[in-house]
Amino acid sequence: MTGLITMDDLTNEEILSILDDAERLLPVARGELYLPLLQGRIMGNLFFEPSTRTRMSFETAMKRLGGDVINLGDVKTSSVVKGETLFDTIQMVDGYTDIIAMRHPRQGAAQYAQDAARVPILNGGDGAGNHPTQTMLDLFTIRQAHGRLDGLKVVLAGDLRYGRTVHSLSHALTRFGCELIFASPTLLQMPAEIVSDLREHGATVTETEDLYGSIDDADVVYMTRIQKERFADEDEYARCAGAYKLHAKHLGDVKGNMIIMHPLPRVDEIHPSVDETRHARYFEQAFNGVVARMALLCRLLGVTVPADVNAQGGAL
Ligand code: NCD
Repeated sequence: MTGLITMDDLTNEEILSILDDAERLLPVARGELYLPLLQGRIMGNLFFEPSTRTRMSFETAMKRLGGDVINLGDVKTSSVVKGETLFDTIQMVDGYTDIIAMRHPRQGAAQYAQDAARVPILNGGDGAGNHPTQTMLDLFTIRQAHGRLDGLKVVLAGDLRYGRTVHSLSHALTRFGCELIFASPTLLQMPAEIVSDLREHGATVTETEDLYGSIDDADVVYMTRIQKERFADEDEYARCAGAYKLHAKHLGDVKGNMIIMHPLPRVDEIHPSVDETRHARYFEQAFNGVVARMALLCRLLGVTVPADVNAQGGAL
């Protein structure tokens, strides 16, 4: 069965229908309703790289729907330290589970795992490659705020070179006809092959170093952390660390309904003064990871989310 490795695995219609499912699952994600759609199913969490939100929201999603989760746990205490290959680990976990969520430092690892597995793989981040489940919760958050995805003006800022969240998101936004502004230091520009691919798909893309001058007519400003762990050269990191520090004082002329997003964790690119503004959306965005992943788990496991969740669910 195919999983979700890049956003190319979903059509626009499928994306919208999964977002609709996610919306219906909100009371289940909040714990107001118990709906064990995934009872008897087991998900394997294989995180070969640090994760807080992605791993925990996958686990919450599975458990809120009555399913179970097994974890690889700390890589240091697993057979990986004995030299087990990714191929062997996947082949084995494949036999223990119905679906696998994985994160790996190597770009392309999720596709490699999918080739080795019988069960669907959900790519929770492969190096500087893709992060499609994050994109689903990002799209959910954008649609929740603006009521639509098409035709929005979106600024993607920070580490566009190594940031996998913005790689996946810019592809999806292009497919929905958004205008993209890439704001980054020169060293951290969006890879040229991604920019040309987006343009071939009809995207309107502007590249700039000037973040603060780009936000006034934006509908969404998507900030990212500089991905320190992906730099081969520490001096190079030092040269771009702290490049952008979005502060409440920069928001004087922005649109009233503009939202500021961040996949988190943040370092210093969004000052806490922004948290109190009407624009901050990053903590809701993190919560939305639960509903988006619930809907994805149901879809990939072939389970239909009922049209009337309230009629089917029970009290906790
Ligand atoms: C992101 C990631 O792992 O790519 N985090 C996340 O999944 N929410 C972003 C990051 O680590 O900067």
